[in-house]
Amino acid sequence: MSGKGSVRFQRVVRKHGDFIALKGIDFDIRPGEFFALLGPSGSGKSTTLRLMAGLDKPTEGQIFFDGHDVTSLDAQDRDVAMVFQSYALYPHMTVAQNIAFPLEMAKLPKARIGAEVAEAARKVRIDHLLDRKPGQLSGGQQQRCALARAIVRKAGLFLLDEPLSNLDAKLRLETRAELKKLQRNLGVTTVYVTHDQEEALTLADRMAVFMEGEIVQIGSPAEVFARPNSLDVAAFIGSPPMNLMQAEIRDGVPCLAGHPLPVTAPVGTGGIVVGVRPSAVVVGDSGIPCTVDLVENLGDSGILDLTFDGGTARARIGDPTLFAEGQRLHMSFASRDIHLFDAVSGRRLGQDAP
Ligand SMILES: Nc1ncnc2c1ncn2[C@@H]1O[C@H](COP(=O)(O)OP(=O)(O)OP(=O)(O)O)[C@@H](O)[C@H]1O
Ligand SMILES: [Mg+2]
Repeated sequence: MSGKGSVRFQRVVRKHGDFIALKGIDFDIRPGEFFALLGPSGSGKSTTLRLMAGLDKPTEGQIFFDGHDVTSLDAQDRDVAMVFQSYALYPHMTVAQNIAFPLEMAKLPKARIGAEVAEAARKVRIDHLLDRKPGQLSGGQQQRCALARAIVRKAGLFLLDEPLSNLDAKLRLETRAELKKLQRNLGVTTVYVTHDQEEALTLADRMAVFMEGEIVQIGSPAEVFARPNSLDVAAFIGSPPMNLMQAEIRDGVPCLAGHPLPVTAPVGTGGIVVGVRPSAVVVGDSGIPCTVDLVENLGDSGILDLTFDGGTARARIGDPTLFAEGQRLHMSFASRDIHLFDAVSGRRLGQDAP
């Protein structure tokens, strides 16, 4: 793939001694895309970002920017700006001096530096804080200062490694929305590492899901959410996670607690795991008998923990005050909301698209 701001990884392996941190990953990032690397701790996300930045080199495989092989290029020779989880601001310098730093290094004229710093600070809304030191800023302001320092470099590629993880919940939501707008306005290809699926789902145009040094699925957040291609991805994406329930097959029909589900099992499959998102569990008078173990009140909605013969499930409900612990009711699922997985391989099984 070519075009300004495209990235390609081709069979990239990274070993640390005997340990294989990346087992041969392939992906393409399109110009201008907001691309998230999502996965549990230790799955290889930061390793991938460091390889992109040139801070680390692959053991095998190749990396291309805009169609050019950059595998052996050092960090300073790549057109990238990186923001780390810890903002790495210089504590003795003011905000303005911190933002100006890459431009001073590049020996730009003073007047030009002043103008660029002012513009970048305005974009991330810290133009009123230019004379402060990092120690006099909130976490969110420090984070925006680090972003401004990345912006002035006008790099072709933005690499962000968990940039919001030091912020409290409210500030994280606000900064997340600002970051999305900023990236849209700048139009610069952005690679964003997170283990927070909600961040990836809300920010990314597309995302790669990492597990144990491999990319297990790539797609838009909507695609990955709607059609997780394995049990692992199904269990990882969505909050609360998808209910995964071992089914019995009777005459080719998966059953839970003896109740047939409105889907057919692909021929020749052994064990089947049925997946249903909590938001798709319908509680009422018909379907599988179950008991309410716990009612969680989330304020504007709620979650029910349900037990049925042979398993447990969670249901998202509108009004938690309508339910009580110990209550007996029934649950059912529409066929379009049912995901089927092979119990042995964990792979998604072909069925009507949900
Ligand atoms: N220098 C190193 N030597 C040995 N192992 C390493 C080294 N750097 C990373 N690893 C291992 O490689 C694996 C991937 O690490 P990486 O930092 O990419 O994970 P991550 O997905 O970013 O996780 P987190 O969400 O916790 O930041 C981990 O198991 C880690 O322990
Ligand atoms: Mg990491």
